[in-house]
Amino acid sequence: MLTIAIISGLILASILWVEIIRDSYHALSHHWTPLYRLHVWHHKVFRPDLTAASEEIYRQAHWYNDVPEALVMLLLSFVPLWLGYVFNWPFFWVTGVGSLYTAFFLVCAVFRGLGVAGIDELTDITHRPGQFESLPAEWFINRTYHWRHHFDDQKAYYSGTFALVDKILGTALSLKGKTIAITGASGTLGLALLTHLDRSGAKVIALSSKNEPITLDINGQQQTIKTITWQVGQESELSQLLETVDILIINHGINVHGARTPEAILQSYEINAFSCWRLMELFFTTVRTNKDIACKEVWVNTSEAEVNPALSPLYELSKRTIGDLITLRRLDAPCVVRKLILGPFKSNLNPIGVMSADWVAQQIIKQAKADFRNIIVTINPITFIAFPIKEFLTSWYFKLFSKKSNH
Ligand SMILES: NC(=O)c1ccc[n+]([C@@H]2O[C@H](COP(=O)([O-])OP(=O)(O)OC[C@H]3O[C@@H](n4cnc5c(N)ncnc54)[C@H](OP(=O)(O)O)[C@@H]3O)[C@@H](O)[C@H]2O)c1
Repeated sequence: MLTIAIISGLILASILWVEIIRDSYHALSHHWTPLYRLHVWHHKVFRPDLTAASEEIYRQAHWYNDVPEALVMLLLSFVPLWLGYVFNWPFFWVTGVGSLYTAFFLVCAVFRGLGVAGIDELTDITHRPGQFESLPAEWFINRTYHWRHHFDDQKAYYSGTFALVDKILGTALSLKGKTIAITGASGTLGLALLTHLDRSGAKVIALSSKNEPITLDINGQQQTIKTITWQVGQESELSQLLETVDILIINHGINVHGARTPEAILQSYEINAFSCWRLMELFFTTVRTNKDIACKEVWVNTSEAEVNPALSPLYELSKRTIGDLITLRRLDAPCVVRKLILGPFKSNLNPIGVMSADWVAQQIIKQAKADFRNIIVTINPITFIAFPIKEFLTSWYFKLFSKKSNH
């Protein structure tokens, strides 16, 4: 048993190693001019629908980019073999699988360079044209994920097979140039998110239920940003605007604390749950093209009250409702939906919160750039265990006992 575990571990590590080399070589190609001169051929060749601009450039791109990349991978694939030999690892020779794996990619790249018929359909799967059938994958790179490297931001989405390097570099989601709208914009977290998203290069839009325009501290100067007034119950009035939005952050919320009147029930569910759900559904209707599927996202600020007490029953009930509705709708969502699972931070809603909204906003953005679909920022260790278990079980329960609609 131990022998199988050691052999499997070494084989997997040798493959992971060459994939890390591949992604590092790719990232370097975008930051070091001599390599970029070769790599740029790979970018020149594809149109936004992923058809090749010319068969000749397609073949040339393989000689200039894919073949040298695979040769570097092959050379460095011998490092684990050499280390294993020097340090006398048990079964070190199985790390040679990494070299065989790389040799396969090298042969495929050479065949594509030679123009062997049908080889690109079989081996160049992240560059196939056609309608996207799935959302950008979280761990294993698919066409939708890779499309963003070509047409969203060439200085992000470097990973070729596993998303590990992008997650480590924080390049698994680019916010540069994205139009991001945030509800609850005049609130404590709303303002902090707007500020840090602006610093990340996004074009921010404040969605506020108040009439005052929102100002942010941008490079030490107070600047008024685009502010749209909206009201709970009138979500449909935002439909035109949402067409132009890449990422919608649903962040508004209230806490009625100890109240349990019919009015408090209505208000809590309407603001914390149903208006969020209506906005999310409205945003889904704006996802139509391949570009929308690849780039549009919704982030919903639910709260760690999904799994922990918040000493406010109606807050917990309404937040758990929206949390479960997202888990249900995420099963067939047309774009990426992230949950923000936040612990107590100091704000108008929670004056005794322990974290600062500024720090929370920075952590949210950091985790989003690593493509975490459930972004947990809290000081409560229980949430890091309880939330993933609850999300996994609820999601499977919903998957098994509900059906996808055909319309
Ligand atoms: N503070 C915490 O400890 C904590 C923990 C976990 C999660 N959260 C969640 O984080 C989000 C932001 O909260 P915050 O702590 O930053 O509180 P906040 O400062 O009170 O901000 C909440 C904002 O929500 C908007 N809002 C309130 N009532 C509304 C209504 N009737 N219609 C539309 N918008 C309304 C308001 O922004 P506009 O006036 O601009 O619309 C308000 O400023 C909330 O969803 C909250 O539940 C907070």
